[in-house]
Amino acid sequence: MGKDKLRRWEQMKDYPNVLQPEFCDIFDKDHNLKGKWAKDFFKNDFPITLELGCGKGEYTVAQAKKYGKRNYIGIDIKGARMWKGAGIAIEEGLQNVAFLRTRIEFIKSFFDRDEIDEIWITFPDPQLKDRRIKKRLTAPGFLDNYSSFMKKGGKIRLKTDNLVLAQYTEEVVRADDRFELEKCSFDVYGADWDSFESGLQDLLEVKTFYEQGFLDKGLKINYVSFVVR
Ligand SMILES: C[S@@+](CC[C@H](N)C(=O)[O-])C[C@H]1O[C@@H](n2cnc3c(N)ncnc32)[C@H](O)[C@@H]1O
Repeated sequence: MGKDKLRRWEQMKDYPNVLQPEFCDIFDKDHNLKGKWAKDFFKNDFPITLELGCGKGEYTVAQAKKYGKRNYIGIDIKGARMWKGAGIAIEEGLQNVAFLRTRIEFIKSFFDRDEIDEIWITFPDPQLKDRRIKKRLTAPGFLDNYSSFMKKGGKIRLKTDNLVLAQYTEEVVRADDRFELEKCSFDVYGADWDSFESGLQDLLEVKTFYEQGFLDKGLKINYVSFVVR
């Protein structure tokens, strides 16, 4: 591991807003915050949004600043990336932010029925090879897990540079009775902002690290959202 990564690793051990559970504490077991995030971790009863594959946590931090009466949890397996967002949240005194370092495959160990209001999936790996399609974060197996803890009426939002992933997600959602497709845009920045739900423009204009790289290459950005029935 490089020196920089090691330093971040060490620093994060002392960050109060970062949880890095051991594999043995969550494999086939419930984490002790399951069902209790708002009360025991955030010490409030505000709704919770997850950012999956959060990287540096741009969406987690930007939303937490904008909406003080909501809680945000960024989830990623790579600690060196979340170090950035976690550090900003500490510097800015954001009490409504947590980062969880784990594989999204284990997400059911962390959240209980009706615990989560919203999910953002920001620029996930598109998993283009046939044998990896089930690893897409909007594949049916992942949607089964999300629906086990999402509230009725809650929203799942995908932002991606990858048209194949966006179209795949649209198809999967249309075929799944548990969800209602809300919005599909295959060119977010070329679309009329009035065609999106009110208040969303500010959020959709937040650019993640990967997104900026894709925009610099001239790629279009896609957005798909769907509601839990
Ligand atoms: C392409 S990056 C996007 C990061 C960030 N959202 C952005 O837009 O800059 C995908 C992220 O998903 C994380 N990731 C991919 N598969 C994961 C999994 N199964 N569990 C947890 N994190 C995962 C990676 O570590 C990586 O940080």
